[in-house]
Amino acid sequence: MRFSDDFLSELRSRVDIEELIGRYTEIRHRGSRTPVALCPFHTEKTPSFVIYRENQSFYCFGCGVGGDAITFVRNIEHLDYVEAVRYLCERVGMNMPLDPVDDEVNRLRRRCYEANREAARFFYAKLLSEEGQAARDYLRKRQLTDETVKHFGLGFAPDRWDALVKYLKSKDFREEELVSFDLARKTSRGGAIDRFRNRLMFPIIDLRGNVVAFGGRVMDDSKPKYLNSSDTVVYKKSRGVYALNFAKNNNGGKLILCEGYMDVIAMHQAGFTNAVAGLGTAFTQEQIALLSRYCTELILCFDSDEAGVKATNRALRMLENAPMKLRVMHLDGGKDPDEIIKTQGRERMDTIIRSALNDTEFALERIRQKYDTSTEDGKLNFGNEAVEVLAGVNNEIERDLYTSRVAAETGVEKHALEAQVTKARRARGRKEQNRAFENALEMVREGGEVKSPNPQKRQLRLACEAEEIILATLLRHPDFLRRLRDRLSEDVFVTDFNKRYYRDISERIREGRSLDLSVFNETGGNEEMSYLSYLLAKGESLAGSVKECEECVATLLAEKEKLSAPEVAQLSDEDYRALFRQIGSRRNNGDKK
Ligand code: UTP
Ligand code: MN
Repeated sequence: MRFSDDFLSELRSRVDIEELIGRYTEIRHRGSRTPVALCPFHTEKTPSFVIYRENQSFYCFGCGVGGDAITFVRNIEHLDYVEAVRYLCERVGMNMPLDPVDDEVNRLRRRCYEANREAARFFYAKLLSEEGQAARDYLRKRQLTDETVKHFGLGFAPDRWDALVKYLKSKDFREEELVSFDLARKTSRGGAIDRFRNRLMFPIIDLRGNVVAFGGRVMDDSKPKYLNSSDTVVYKKSRGVYALNFAKNNNGGKLILCEGYMDVIAMHQAGFTNAVAGLGTAFTQEQIALLSRYCTELILCFDSDEAGVKATNRALRMLENAPMKLRVMHLDGGKDPDEIIKTQGRERMDTIIRSALNDTEFALERIRQKYDTSTEDGKLNFGNEAVEVLAGVNNEIERDLYTSRVAAETGVEKHALEAQVTKARRARGRKEQNRAFENALEMVREGGEVKSPNPQKRQLRLACEAEEIILATLLRHPDFLRRLRDRLSEDVFVTDFNKRYYRDISERIREGRSLDLSVFNETGGNEEMSYLSYLLAKGESLAGSVKECEECVATLLAEKEKLSAPEVAQLSDEDYRALFRQIGSRRNNGDKK
């Protein structure tokens, strides 16, 4: 246990969750017992985000996220657990407890941040020193201003074996540490030498402003052109996005993904401060997840050479299910953004960004590239595949526009093409109706409730409901555990999921430990916190009596008996459909969506 229950309770009592949340979203019915707000974690028009002052928790009925102040800070500020606690401590003026088991890893992390920061300072100082003349010349040649150099903290690693190692040793860092932070390498003779030598240095800065790694570029044509830090305690390359620390703010919901360091820097210098790049690895899903938190539109801006086109296609495939809108820039008349800005100016770049192909255009372009559209066969193939893309365009004007274009390009009559598109749309429509049907079915099976994380809820609705009531009541009235003693035990529980929660909650109650949400936070992930908040929210509408719990126990026992009998989930599709129609007709009375 990292923090004591007492400490967490103290922290909780000092934090005003309503005030905290109010900094991120406008709260309605402020001060009332259950203030509501527009959920800051998903987009909605009517508020479904509820704050429970009594237990200092929140729960969103729309997206199912919930928790306490710590969870809220974790999610909204993208911090880990300890950082979120620290963040709250700072806000309410509490000291973080000095933790004896504050593990080695954390200490190492702090050391690593410090070493990297010192290293960045060192490289920057060297750039400005006599030794840095060649590097400064190089930067001038690349037309980077002093301001840009400072903003990105660029530096120079001297052309010596151990300049940095010596410097950091004078700052009390040990050689083994520097090796593990990938700032130094072991030599065969047991000493340590600098990892980066005679290179232009690009510090990589995380979202909180810590220097976590470096990229180092040679200043001539030698290889490798870039040397990048390997993974360390504070850095995971596959998760890193260069310059996101700058680009995450005020980007109007748009990020431009470039290929490399220099492109990003050139873009920022030209005023496109929403440019970012991966860090010398192939684009990963982790990076996509990170980017999706900071933009709703991602504009791909890869080099115009063959490698760049390949990278674009690869990225698009990876981004297929990503939540953001995609556009692709076509770098006309230059190999990369850096070159375009230099040779054609920022206005030209601006035009290129604004005329980036949207997904329809790009999808058509991709098909076009597959075929030789100068031949009849190629045209026909292109037209046939294009129909699918056109059918997916929902805006009529847009669809008409692209249909005309494809017709002109393939020489097919527009009417004929339109007929094809309409047919494809009908097939699509049916598919979508089926999907809607599946979704509705899901709702019926789930009892029309918020999606439960309990994997067995679908089959065992009644049992789940009873279990949830028991858990929700226990969270509010821990003393009931004693009063239900001879009737309630873990064997009563039908689903493994709730049994686990019961075990945890009842153990805490028996040991007289706190049931504050905050104490679940350390071990509990987001899902667990959300579920507990869901239970707390549910508790609001319950009687909260021993009797109610007893009835639930009875229900559970009966359900156990019945378990062998056929369940709703085993109904044939036909029977479901009948059930669905029944419910559908009831629902549709009055509220048509
Ligand atoms: P580029 O070769 O396009 O480099 O590689 P660049 O950033 O545009 O730099 P300049 O304009 O040539 O100076 C794109 C990215 O691929 C990674 C780097 O992250 C680089 O920014 N890379 C490239 C490496 O990690 N190692 C290499 O040897 C080359
Ligand atoms: Mn490049």
